[in-house]
Amino acid sequence: MSSLLIIGTQWGDEGKGKLTNYYAALADMIVRFQGGANAGHTVSVSGNPVVFHLLPSGISVPGVTCVIGAGVVIDPSGLVAEIDKVSELGIEVGENLLIDTGAHLTLRYHKAIEQAQERARGARAIGTTMRGIGPTYADRTAREGVTIGELASFDAFAERVRGIAERKNTLLTKAYGAEPVDTDDMLEELRTLAPRLLPNLADTPPIIRGAVESPGNVIFEGAQGTLLDLSFGTYPYVTSSNTSAGGLAPGTGVPPSAIDEVIGVAKAYITRVGAGPFPTESEGEEAAAIRERGHEHGSTTGRPRRCGWLDTVALRYSIALNGIDRLIITKLDVLDACGEIPVCVAYEIDGERTEDFPRSAEQLARAVPVYDTMPGWLADTSGCRAVDELPGKARDYLRRIEELSGARVAAVSVGAASHAIVHFDRVF
Ligand code: IMO
Ligand code: MG
Repeated sequence: MSSLLIIGTQWGDEGKGKLTNYYAALADMIVRFQGGANAGHTVSVSGNPVVFHLLPSGISVPGVTCVIGAGVVIDPSGLVAEIDKVSELGIEVGENLLIDTGAHLTLRYHKAIEQAQERARGARAIGTTMRGIGPTYADRTAREGVTIGELASFDAFAERVRGIAERKNTLLTKAYGAEPVDTDDMLEELRTLAPRLLPNLADTPPIIRGAVESPGNVIFEGAQGTLLDLSFGTYPYVTSSNTSAGGLAPGTGVPPSAIDEVIGVAKAYITRVGAGPFPTESEGEEAAAIRERGHEHGSTTGRPRRCGWLDTVALRYSIALNGIDRLIITKLDVLDACGEIPVCVAYEIDGERTEDFPRSAEQLARAVPVYDTMPGWLADTSGCRAVDELPGKARDYLRRIEELSGARVAAVSVGAASHAIVHFDRVF
């Protein structure tokens, strides 16, 4: 029995989905516990890339139960569309998907409000994915949200939503000068979607706890990354859920003590989508080459990702916050063509050197990275499948990451294919 929490240590898109899918073959259950359709987890299914937004990344693996926990926010039309899309690819979604009754729904007015808010923020826009995430979590906290479980008594649900939608339309039209949502049309759509989702609803905490206590393995699949954490990320340029390990218990109903290990995922470099400070961002030709080689375009929004060098100040912060002992480094092969690889070891803020990640985004925006430059290996690593097949300089790079971060490297991903992994240690 082992329960593993897979957490992104950067600003998302670290490759959590690929790894979850890979280790799912050794697991009985995969659980998503936060975030929503803002996530874009690209997984290779029979050699073809498939992007999951709400479905856990183990859904294509036979015999694995996939759970969408109470901490996830669900866009019902998006989820049904995603189920239909993966079904067309031959991935079965039936009893293998359980959705917690307490998960909140993202409705049309959430997306409309987010659009209006982002527009109103102007130059200070967060650059969200426009999936209605922030307004859904805001409503949940304000006790103005609706859960997916409420769909079971549709008339009572509709009456409650009508009242809420009226207040949202006042906000949209009066405060933002935006168009109101058509409540009747929205409820009509929800009435047709409900029977598609009701069979998958369950009271999942006892089921997840049961799986954790039984002999098999359970993977908790994080979405987004630690630096986007609502409480400890680069606020306000964050998402609206706790993306770090602490989000697990409220998002699943499983006690923190149930977790055997938190594995941190970090790209061999770093990217960010959307606005906010990013000390090691590179805008030169090398960044463009990394974007090209790494296919660094948002899998949810298609936006080009901002690219930069590995930031071990941020990595140490994530490791401490999540209690990470072991890392999996992804996309090492993207650096194959780099003659030199800068690694950020410290910041200078207002002329003072620090190795601590500042808590304020405003301070982080003034951080100037201090780099250690490593020689590149200038060799193709994409075919490597064993440690001794990796070029010596690539191994040196990984060893330097271990020294600077204080965590061990358990595995390295060298390509998009699910088997493109070099193992240093067993994960299960
Ligand atoms: P995965 O799970 C990268 C970013 C958005 C924006 C900020 C807030 O694929 O790693 P939101 O829509 O959540 O309110 O947007 O967070 N963001 C992500 N960036 N990967 C993600 O998910 C992200 N989910 C949200 O770009 O900057
Ligand atoms: Mg992604």
